[in-house]
Amino acid sequence: MQEQISTSPSRGLHIITWGCQMNVYDSARMADVLRPLGYSPVDLPDNADMIILNTCHIRERAAEKVFSELGRLRQIREARKLEGKETLIAVAGCVAQAEGKELLARAPYVDLVLGPQTYHRLPEMVARIARAGGSVIDTDFPVESKFDLLPEEAAPQNEGNLTAFLTIQEGCDKFCSFCVVPYTRGAETSRPVASILAEAERLVASGVKEITLLGQNVNAFHGDWNGGTASLPELAALLHEKIPALKRLRYITSHPRDMEQALIDAHRSNPIFMPYLHLPVQSGSDKVLKAMNRGHTADEYREIIRRLREARPDIALTSDFIVGHPGETDEDFEATMQLVRDVRFASAYSFKYSQRPGTPAAGQPFQVAENVKEKRLAALQALLREQQDAFNASLVGTVQDVLVTGHGRKPGQLNGRSPYLQPVHFEGSPSLIGKIVKVRITAPFTNSLGGHLHEQESTAI
Ligand code: 5AD
Ligand code: SF4
Repeated sequence: MQEQISTSPSRGLHIITWGCQMNVYDSARMADVLRPLGYSPVDLPDNADMIILNTCHIRERAAEKVFSELGRLRQIREARKLEGKETLIAVAGCVAQAEGKELLARAPYVDLVLGPQTYHRLPEMVARIARAGGSVIDTDFPVESKFDLLPEEAAPQNEGNLTAFLTIQEGCDKFCSFCVVPYTRGAETSRPVASILAEAERLVASGVKEITLLGQNVNAFHGDWNGGTASLPELAALLHEKIPALKRLRYITSHPRDMEQALIDAHRSNPIFMPYLHLPVQSGSDKVLKAMNRGHTADEYREIIRRLREARPDIALTSDFIVGHPGETDEDFEATMQLVRDVRFASAYSFKYSQRPGTPAAGQPFQVAENVKEKRLAALQALLREQQDAFNASLVGTVQDVLVTGHGRKPGQLNGRSPYLQPVHFEGSPSLIGKIVKVRITAPFTNSLGGHLHEQESTAI
């Protein structure tokens, strides 16, 4: 995913964002902290006095991708220099955190390297470069929380300001064998509830109807509240009670180990929880789950799903899978296929295992051959695709509450979001944008749904 933030400049700022929604959120907050210094987002890096590359480390060859993009940015900087203009180049995010020193050694023209926990210090870093020149690297895990120090401005909004992300938790202590996150994002920390409520209030006051709470381990949330802490279901209850104009709530990404019964029950009792959950399982083989250090078995995962469906029968489930973890046999892979058949997912992401330097799995013997990984991935993706098609087809003829987010591609068409996070296209008046309307689903596509406004029951809110 690549997103660019833009409006018109005083000093131009161009942010290139790779990776997860948390990076999208972080990019918007970096724009917020730089605003008081006179930086406003511009569309093209050629017009930018500062370019930030916000990176992701989760995939293979992440660092190579960064160096190739930096080569392109360096050329832009040279071209601007000929016009007498300076350009600051910053690398942020998880590649910066993991490989900060190597980054500066290989690309010494980079001015700033900062990790995900230090972007509240950006103004100070920029000032230091202005004063003394040279490069600045800040990949600490500081004791102060960036959340206490960020400006109180509206967080990122998209789809016409109707949906927004809100980070409530960061970092991870789970140390799955394959994953770099505990090393790049650091230990698990939760944001205080009062500051989350304040941000949610600002978002909703500016028109947001649906919030997605973000965290690497979001369901492990335990933010300070009233002299103690609040859990995720307790936070969700507070959001519902205190912000009536907030209509919809989601959260990503969850770990099966933290899927407590109180959270499962909240899917039944809290009306703003959407019937949708992303719950990565990674593998269906107990042996591989153990090697991955996931801390649960395949049957324990099945049991969580059973309880979730008991609480909310229509809940749409999505997941992440890795094929070819070191030691995975044909039999282990078949156990993953069986788990997928048993659970039936609405959609899912699946990846070939890739070695991440510094993680325990990277050093393990019995790495699986590339061609075997490819075959397994193709078989898994075909099954997941069948299930996604079946899920979308099962909605045909039903009437769904759709949050209308904007204009569609065709004239007269509107776009919206179903409770299950599918894009929905249908014809209707632009006056419906921002409302939740009833749409009868008529056409299933792989990644979206088509429908017709269900006139009598349209409840504009
Ligand atoms: N190889 C393949 N996939 C990975 N993921 C994380 N690390 C790796 C890796 N080393 C996948 C997991 C995770 C998702 C965000 O990315 O499935 O849930
Ligand atoms: Fe990575 Fe595992 Fe933590 Fe998820 S739970 S961020 S996969 S270590």
